[in-house]
Amino acid sequence: MKHNRKVIVYIATSLDGYIATKEESVHWLDETEAAGDNGFAAFYETIDTVIMGKNTYDWVVNQELEEFPYKGMTCYVYTSSDTAVNNEDVTFVQGEVSELIQQLQRQPGKNIWIVGGGELLHHYIKENLVDEYIITIAPIILGSGIPLFKELQSNIHLQLEQVKKYAQFAELHFLKK
Ligand SMILES: NC(=O)c1ccc[n+]([C@@H]2O[C@H](COP(=O)([O-])OP(=O)(O)OC[C@H]3O[C@@H](n4cnc5c(N)ncnc54)[C@H](OP(=O)(O)O)[C@@H]3O)[C@@H](O)[C@H]2O)c1
Repeated sequence: MKHNRKVIVYIATSLDGYIATKEESVHWLDETEAAGDNGFAAFYETIDTVIMGKNTYDWVVNQELEEFPYKGMTCYVYTSSDTAVNNEDVTFVQGEVSELIQQLQRQPGKNIWIVGGGELLHHYIKENLVDEYIITIAPIILGSGIPLFKELQSNIHLQLEQVKKYAQFAELHFLKK
């Protein structure tokens, strides 16, 4: 079923498919030569909702940025804990990922960004809920780390929409078939 509000995975990975080192470092991304913001601001204009797993949220908060980077967006954080307390920036959620997506897609709005990480993403991928994958590959083979993809019971067939080069990054844009 086609929706006006697309579910988009926009994520950076090593060539061998890791989104962070085992120690949750993404310094290898920061150290890679980029072309401006690699098109991030243009992408950010297309979304109004971000969804992430608790590990990614904790990582973001631990960066001790001046303010929450997704301020102004509707932000959901998945956790199995029922003691997490919502704050002005995020709402903690549990349950089937498809239910929240269906609920959001019944409302008007922009696209929905699944920020990551790999564990949360797996739920969307295995249910084929992702409409577009925008995968930015850094020129490094990490050898180990937190994987972007996990094992699946069935194949997901995609269509290659676009390939872009941003200095040392390669961005692959795939659509759901
Ligand atoms: N390279 C990039 O662009 C990029 C992007 C995003 C993230 N990252 C990195 O990825 C790392 C985190 O990834 P990750 O795979 O370890 O973790 P994650 O997916 O961010 O978070 C996993 C946690 O989310 C909760 N969760 C996931 N699915 C759930 C569900 N269906 N229902 C309820 N709770 C659910 C659980 O939290 P509880 O344990 O609280 O139950 C689980 O432990 C971080 O280091 C981050 O920096 C990199």
